[in-house]
Amino acid sequence: MELTKIHTDFPLLSRKVHGKPLVYLDNGATTQKPQIVIDAITDYYTEYNSNIHRGVHHLSQLATEKYEVARKTIQQFIGAQFSHEIIFSPGTTSSINLVASSWGRANVSADDEVLISAMEHHSNIVPWQMLCEEKGAKLKVIPMNDNGELIMEQFESLLSSKTKIVAINHISNTLGTINPVEKIIAMAHDKGSLVLVDGAQSVAHMPIDVVSLNADFYVFSGHKLFGPTGVGILYGKEAILNEMPPYQGGGDMIKSVSFEKTTYNELPHKFEAGTPNIVGGIGLGKAIEYINEIGFDFIIEQESQLKNAATKMLESIEDVKIIGQAKQKASVISFAINGFHPLDVGTILDQLGISIRTGHHCTQPIMDFYNIPGTIRASFAFYNTLEDIAKLRAGILTAKTMLS
Ligand code: ALA
Repeated sequence: MELTKIHTDFPLLSRKVHGKPLVYLDNGATTQKPQIVIDAITDYYTEYNSNIHRGVHHLSQLATEKYEVARKTIQQFIGAQFSHEIIFSPGTTSSINLVASSWGRANVSADDEVLISAMEHHSNIVPWQMLCEEKGAKLKVIPMNDNGELIMEQFESLLSSKTKIVAINHISNTLGTINPVEKIIAMAHDKGSLVLVDGAQSVAHMPIDVVSLNADFYVFSGHKLFGPTGVGILYGKEAILNEMPPYQGGGDMIKSVSFEKTTYNELPHKFEAGTPNIVGGIGLGKAIEYINEIGFDFIIEQESQLKNAATKMLESIEDVKIIGQAKQKASVISFAINGFHPLDVGTILDQLGISIRTGHHCTQPIMDFYNIPGTIRASFAFYNTLEDIAKLRAGILTAKTMLS
């Protein structure tokens, strides 16, 4: 696979920022979009814009067909057994809220326990906290060590027959840690607990097979997967989704309505109230077709090379400290520069055309754990190059000189 060819697939990568060629290293926040995704969006609005599952007319049928093809593409991409186990949502956060609200309210009672980890994104903390507060249940936290790895012995001792669900990220958006979710799922199931995996940072970087993982729920966003914003996925096992009460009311989730009684639609529509993000779903399907063409062999090889080169480069700069040193780590690297505020460094890097993220990355408990205000985070995708890393190095050196 040619990197120069890949670059031409992503028009935004060839733009300049502040007069400098863009170096885009904020893929953990969102990824850039290949031309075929952009074309699919334009095509929808210029050729067949219409609502789905509603009209007998040609345009509506065309849009419905493309939306449902996208659902099947997503099903195959994550190895789900049925396409009706793929629920479209506005994103990872909404998917987690759906589960916490619908499954959680029906299954979590006073004195039950919900387990999350010390390295969760706020989106995988707050919905569970709200549920536990409402129900009088306990939210417990699996601790991590200084390297940013979960302490599995403590996880084991926290698990009990009171644990109703374990909600855990596959890859930490801040530390890059790849969590042993297969093991976590097996251990939780042994105690009768379900597991929700937040795959926001993993689906674009490694092949996922929800059946062999045996995940009960797997959630992710389209925009971190080279697709549009405003669309995401909730995968759930058919039997569990069937038992869950509906989440929001209206539109596609209805079978029949009278003032006395409403009956609900079947999966997947039961959880898809209102007109969905039609073009988002179709665009996400196209993004996955693109990833399938690139292939995970290439993606994994390229990103592991980038991670190793960036780690070595950062370790070679005086006063730079990498935050998160897990043995199993993805191409997400947070770091701090002794004596400098992350925001100041980020601002100088931006002036040099380098996009990185600074701050707490929606993981304030991780910042508290390391007792730091924030980090500087470089997060890579397969379209990044070793030249990007050389430019990051030069940028950090410039920032250090300017801020000294
Ligand atoms: N959760 C996204 C990030 O890590 C926005 O940047």
